[in-house]
Amino acid sequence: MISFGTRLSGKCALITGAARGIGYEFARAYIAEGAQVALADINADALEKAIATLGPQAHAVQMDVTSQVSIDAGIASAVAAMGKLDILINNAALFEAAPIADITRTSFDKLFAVNVAGCLFTLQAAAKQMISQGHGGKIINMASQAGRRGEGLVAVYCATKAAVISLTQSAGLDLIKHGINVNAIAPGVVDGEHWDGVDAFFAKYENLAPGEKKRAVGAAVPFGRMGTAADLTGMAIFLASPEADYIVAQTYNVDGGNWMN
Ligand SMILES: NC(=O)c1ccc[n+]([C@@H]2O[C@H](COP(=O)([O-])OP(=O)(O)OC[C@H]3O[C@@H](n4cnc5c(N)ncnc54)[C@H](O)[C@@H]3O)[C@@H](O)[C@H]2O)c1
Repeated sequence: MISFGTRLSGKCALITGAARGIGYEFARAYIAEGAQVALADINADALEKAIATLGPQAHAVQMDVTSQVSIDAGIASAVAAMGKLDILINNAALFEAAPIADITRTSFDKLFAVNVAGCLFTLQAAAKQMISQGHGGKIINMASQAGRRGEGLVAVYCATKAAVISLTQSAGLDLIKHGINVNAIAPGVVDGEHWDGVDAFFAKYENLAPGEKKRAVGAAVPFGRMGTAADLTGMAIFLASPEADYIVAQTYNVDGGNWMN
């Protein structure tokens, strides 16, 4: 059941990768707290379907975070639709896995282009917009437990998420003088279409039956199950709210107890 609140009343947010999964759930939760949300995604069909479920407070922005032209146009169209930009969630990302011997430059370049350069240059464009408006803002980057430590089959994705944690620290320190708080959320294992893909990668490399990896990672979470996108919305609302004004450059684990620093 959706509960309606006012914690983000009057705020305007842009969320990348919001056509499905965690980004979509964040959009739904922000709208339920009174915000307008520009959902930005590269997948136009999924975006159209997502927008249709969210009502007039949702705006579709087709955006490829690997293209500077697309990022700039996306921010401009979000501002045109909503009037301003107060909050950015840098959520778009890709996942691939392979043993070290099988990693390709193509895969490396693709993951770094979306997960790291996409995060930095969307953050930069949003920060410029917020600075020009003159009343600060909130930027939330989606990191991962994968950025806290390496994983044998997941070297490149882990490295991209470690980079997101590092960028959060540096951007957080630089932008707070403008009243822009930059922080990150590090989820653990969150069920959804993304993890359907992860499960398929592990089925291939660890010779597992489909669904087996999901079952195993869920059983290993101290809380006792995989997370859901809805488990993350409380932190995403909090970090975007004035309650988080004094929080700078931090990455918060929301992972059922998987990781402790
Ligand atoms: N699901 C998990 O278990 C988990 C765990 C830790 C961190 N995360 C992180 O949370 C975030 C959301 O994860 P999710 O599970 O919802 O992922 P997802 O794969 O379900 O959704 C990602 C969205 O990003 C979009 N996207 C991909 N490339 C893009 C691009 N170039 N430009 C714009 N949009 C693009 C996709 O179309 C998709 O809609 C990601 O940053 C992910 O790394 C997820």
